[in-house]
Amino acid sequence: MGEAINTSEILSATGVDLFYGAQMAVRDAHLSVARGEVVAITGQSGSGKSSLLYCLAGVLPPARGDVRFEGRSLTRLGDDEISGLRRERFGFVFQYGELLPELTIEENTALPLRLAGQRKGPALAAAGAVLERLGLGELRERRPSQVSGGQSQRVAVARALVHRPAVVFADEPTGSLDSANATAVLEEFLGLARSQDTAVILVTHDPAVAARADSHYTMADGVLAPREATA
Ligand SMILES: Nc1ncnc2c1ncn2[C@@H]1O[C@H](COP(=O)(O)OP(=O)(O)OP(=O)(O)O)[C@@H](O)[C@H]1O
Ligand SMILES: [Mg+2]
Repeated sequence: MGEAINTSEILSATGVDLFYGAQMAVRDAHLSVARGEVVAITGQSGSGKSSLLYCLAGVLPPARGDVRFEGRSLTRLGDDEISGLRRERFGFVFQYGELLPELTIEENTALPLRLAGQRKGPALAAAGAVLERLGLGELRERRPSQVSGGQSQRVAVARALVHRPAVVFADEPTGSLDSANATAVLEEFLGLARSQDTAVILVTHDPAVAARADSHYTMADGVLAPREATA
C-alpha cells in the first residue's frame, strides 16, 4: 500500500486491545487512515469489526494501545472533549439508519448541525442542500415512517455527512438493503464523502463493496490484517 494518494494521517490505531470482561474482542490492532481515505474492513460475524470501530471513534477505551485523531491521543481527552469530537468531527452511519421517528427527514438530517449549536434556519438549509444532492429533496417534510428502507438509508448518509466531518464511521451502512439499492446508496455515500475529503471507515460483509475502497483490511478473531489490493 505504498502509493497512498494522500499521506496526511487523520486517524491511527497502534497496538489496540479491547476486552469485554475476559473476552478479547480486538487484539493488537494497527491502522493508519489518511484524510479523505476510504478504508474497508471485512470479516466474519463476531470477528471484532464493530468493537474496533467503537475504539476508533472513542466510544470504548482500549485496554492497551493508542488511538489518535489529528495526532491527539483519544485516551488523554476528557469526556467533554471526546463528545465534542464525536459531535463535530465524526459522523456515523448504522445498519438500520436509526432516524428519529418524531422528526422530519430534513430535521433528522440537520441534527448534527443543531447539536453543534447551529441555528435552525441555516441548519435546515444545509440539510436541504445535502438531501437535494442525494436526490431526496422531495422527502424533506416527511417522517421516517413515510419513506422506503433505501430512502432512510440515504437520509442516514446525508445526516452523517451534513456537518462535513473529518471521519465517518459506517457499520454495515447498507446492511438492510437489497444489493441494487445497496450499491446505489454506497456510491452516493462514497461520492459525497470523497467530494468533501471525509475519510470513511466502512465495515461491510460484501467483498464487492470493499473492492471500491482505497484500502481493505480483514478481521478474524479480533486480529486486523491488511489485505493486498484487489485485482
Ligand atoms: N457488549 C459485549 N459484551 C460481551 N461481548 C461482546 C459484546 N459486544 C461484542 N462482544 C463479543 O466480542 C466479539 C466481537 O464482536 P463484534 O460485535 O465486534 O463483532 P463484529 O465483527 O462486529 O460482528 P458482526 O459482523 O456480527 O456485527 C464477539 O465475540 C462478540 O460476541
Ligand atoms: Mg458488528
